[in-house]
Amino acid sequence: MSNVKASPHPLVAHKLSFLRQKDTEPKKFRELVREIAALLAYEATADLEIMPRQVQTPLAEMQGWELREKIGLVPILRAGLGMVEGIWELMPSAEVWHIGLYRDEHTLKPVQYYNKLPIEPTVQMSLILDPMLATGGSAVATVDILKKWGVKKIKFVGLIGAPEGIHALQTAHPDVPIHLAAIDDHLNERGYIVPGLGDAGDRQFGTG
Ligand code: PRP
Ligand code: URA
Repeated sequence: MSNVKASPHPLVAHKLSFLRQKDTEPKKFRELVREIAALLAYEATADLEIMPRQVQTPLAEMQGWELREKIGLVPILRAGLGMVEGIWELMPSAEVWHIGLYRDEHTLKPVQYYNKLPIEPTVQMSLILDPMLATGGSAVATVDILKKWGVKKIKFVGLIGAPEGIHALQTAHPDVPIHLAAIDDHLNERGYIVPGLGDAGDRQFGTG
């Protein structure tokens, strides 16, 4: 599991416990998703490339830094949407490209319903955002899409991963680092992460 990181940050652990709690209401749930996503993105972007940039402070000229690469945030609809805002505030120049996938409830395979990526890639590195890495089907399909688009550097940022989904993503795309808030125990017979938090889309949007 070398390219998988479960955040060691106490704030993440604290917030994730409230997120999991079954009576946490959608408004609070969305707030927590946004906050945890920002904390995870902070960790996931620690190795971003920077380049020198001259800065004139009120007192002196100095060499500062700026990001070298154009970053793309790629939320998987619907549940990944809630992770965008907190991360976007940290990197407002990022582009946001939505990928629409839902999991067929019988086969558990991802079905694509939205993809408006232009022909040529417009970003050098992408963060795929999806709270749940369950069977891994949605994450693998999204990495496939981004690689076909031409993105060379891709990372997955999620809240909870099941060992099954982590294994699937690592096997299909060993070059993609996985950043999570927690790694849970297993999937149940309906493909839900246990203990997990239930349905991340329904809990955010009040549709459960
Ligand atoms: C959920 C979740 C992931 C996917 C994970 O989406 O947000 O996208 O399931 O499962 P997997 O790892 O087995 O592919 P869902 O299909 O419920 O759609 P939604 O976000 O629209 O609710
Ligand atoms: N999708 C969810 O929203 N939750 C799970 O536990 C698995 C897939």
